[in-house]
Amino acid sequence: MTKKLYIETVGCQMNMLDSEMVVASLRKKGYELTDSTDDADTILFNTCSVREHAEHKTYSALGRLREHKKLNPHKVIGVMGCMAQKDQKLIFEKAPYVDIVVGPGQLQQIPDLIEKVKSDSGQYTAVSLGRKNGSLEQIKRSHETFDPLRDPTMRPTPFQAYLRIQIGCDKFCTYCIVPMTRGPEQGRPPKEILDEAKILADQGCKEITLVGQTVNSYKHKDDSGTTRLSGLLQQLHEIEGLQRLKFVTNYPKDMTTDLLETIRDYPKISKYIHVPLQSGSNDVLKRMKRGYTVEDYRDMMARIHDTIPGAAISSDFIVGFCGETEEEFQETVKLTKECRFKNSFIFKYSERPGTKGAEVFPDDIPDEIKKRRNNELLAVQNQISEEDNQQFLGQQVEVLVEGPSKWAKQNGDPDAQVLQLTGRTNCDRIVVFDGNQRLAGQLMKIAIYEVTSFTLLGTVVTDHQVPTLNTISV
Ligand code: 5AD
Ligand code: SF4
Repeated sequence: MTKKLYIETVGCQMNMLDSEMVVASLRKKGYELTDSTDDADTILFNTCSVREHAEHKTYSALGRLREHKKLNPHKVIGVMGCMAQKDQKLIFEKAPYVDIVVGPGQLQQIPDLIEKVKSDSGQYTAVSLGRKNGSLEQIKRSHETFDPLRDPTMRPTPFQAYLRIQIGCDKFCTYCIVPMTRGPEQGRPPKEILDEAKILADQGCKEITLVGQTVNSYKHKDDSGTTRLSGLLQQLHEIEGLQRLKFVTNYPKDMTTDLLETIRDYPKISKYIHVPLQSGSNDVLKRMKRGYTVEDYRDMMARIHDTIPGAAISSDFIVGFCGETEEEFQETVKLTKECRFKNSFIFKYSERPGTKGAEVFPDDIPDEIKKRRNNELLAVQNQISEEDNQQFLGQQVEVLVEGPSKWAKQNGDPDAQVLQLTGRTNCDRIVVFDGNQRLAGQLMKIAIYEVTSFTLLGTVVTDHQVPTLNTISV
């Protein structure tokens, strides 16, 4: 009999990948996906701890399952991912009907844990060692990767995939919980990555996004030497069928010139670099323990622009970090105007218990001020994005067609042949145009006639020569 799995995923690309792996392992045990918690035999939440808001949402969703469990005590409810690693037993205290709590380093145990719950109705926790609870080797070993198994139906599209090249993080920015939930930084062996990329390409994947918390710090040592991101990209570039290579997220201090030259010289590599600045104030950067100054970041920007003309650069920011004065925030606004990012993700600081920031700095900026700073910086960024997009007016861009746009998915007739479609340029700009659904997965030329802060609007360019028609005399 088929069993039904409901899985809800929040958070970063790492979590998307983790869900792919878990779904693949459960399919092997006879599970099918369902989009209703009512139908499901097993309900899993893949959680995020980066901001408190994400955790609140998960706890509310869990709250709604209380009745489910009363009506059907055999339903298995599991919490996996970063919040599972961070909160552990607290999850059982807040939601006693949860059956399993599984950290991101133990996901391969999920099928067995579900079976155990079914046989003895027990509650199980599987988590990694904390960052102070063992030797580095022991801690590393307790964060197992789980990558060879994948479920193609869970990918963003059939022709796009994420590929993890690194787990964990060793930077310990004072605001960030990730080094605690995902453990020490570890680069996957290049052979494993290349083998997985080849399988993806054979399955029809055209674009691979390499993921790591600090993807450009990637390093793997073995008998044949040390491989870094630049070398890995060069090897991936050889794989037939792959047309685009992207990588997220970058750490400013590790943006080496050999990586920039590789991006410049290998055409399949996206000339798009997401490299979070977080703040434009040296004092705030110091409190965040980001490991670079405004001057270092400026130098890095100059090196990127000198090496890769036309590169698109995007950033993340945290506003309202502990003690952030108005002057310090205005320094961020000023640097944003100077850097002219393609786009920025802006977050209000959220104190995370377990981080150095929560331990040593009071979260002293009122929410109202955080909100105002968030909106102000967003308005500055949106104006820059819109001005930046003007350069594409009247130009042709190459787009990997992803499928129906968000608007078409909600409002369009799914059976219509011609729909509003969406795709991205190699520099990660979103393009919207009308076209046949069958174009999904193809690289197309689009002529741009309108732009907004977030989107380029265009029409498909058809290069075909009009054949001379023979006149048929009747
Ligand atoms: N509060 C707000 N934003 C955070 N980020 C990481 N930790 C926090 C936090 N405690 C943001 C950073 C990071 C992005 C993924 O999330 O900007 O780059
Ligand atoms: Fe968190 Fe900093 Fe590591 Fe990024 S580099 S995951 S912000 S600790």
